[in-house]
Amino acid sequence: MQLIQTNADIITQRDIWQHKGTKVGLVPTMGFLHEGHLSLVRTAQIENELVVVSIFVNPLQFGPKEDLSRYPRDLNRDLALLEKEGVSLVFNPSPEEIYPPGFDASVEIGGVSAPLEGVIRPGHFRGVATVVAKLFHLVGPSAAYFGQKDAQQVAVIKKMVRDLNFPLEIRVIPTVREPDGLALSSRNIFLSPQQRSSALILYRALQAAETTWRKYPTERKGSTLRQIMTEVIATEPEARPDYLSAADPETLQEYEGPIPAGKGVLLSLAVRFGTTRLIDNFLLEADG
Ligand code: PAF
Repeated sequence: MQLIQTNADIITQRDIWQHKGTKVGLVPTMGFLHEGHLSLVRTAQIENELVVVSIFVNPLQFGPKEDLSRYPRDLNRDLALLEKEGVSLVFNPSPEEIYPPGFDASVEIGGVSAPLEGVIRPGHFRGVATVVAKLFHLVGPSAAYFGQKDAQQVAVIKKMVRDLNFPLEIRVIPTVREPDGLALSSRNIFLSPQQRSSALILYRALQAAETTWRKYPTERKGSTLRQIMTEVIATEPEARPDYLSAADPETLQEYEGPIPAGKGVLLSLAVRFGTTRLIDNFLLEADG
């Protein structure tokens, strides 16, 4: 497995792949890898001739009140995991390599960036879109792999690819969960044993709303689905919700009244347990 840390070296590789017509899959990550990331890697391995994993904790997507230095990191462990998966190349640039002195560009995707996480974390998706656009240019992949767990991030990146004509496919891979339903996240290590058990309330809230969606098609109203999730979350005293949403999966606009026939719904929520903030979602199809 090759480890590349400079733009010049990754561009050299990209030019060789493009010359040979090699099908490259990119898995962008911020490291501290778990089974969720590895499921992206495994799908990318099946669908491409060569897989590049980027590991870069992107300072631009952290707000002033979010602790960048607290973000978990373990490069040696990550490299060992990726080696075992048979990954061809890891791109692990420094912040100065990606944002050299004088760097002054940003990619702003309007609309889908604004609600939900956009309200709580202003500027977050500008940081995500900017670094992902740079990674797409530097690696030149045929496809890039993202987890459904970050549903709004997926909507933002898909919109960026469409609006700015990036020549690649965005592949979205289902959320990987612990056996009890907790979605895997690098932030789970910050939960105390008590918070870890309280955090199951996210999955329970989503399940309760999903049950209504499936059993009672006449109750397919945004307000009803949000109310169900609110009531379930309220049963857990440690849980402090930032938002509970039942929105159009593409535009992320909240559904208020009855959800139009033929439309699915993205149920999503962000909940704090002490200083740790967890997100989760279910994407429900119209015919589900
Ligand atoms: O999902 C993440 O880990 C990050 O937001 C990403 C896509 C790697 C961009 O920094």
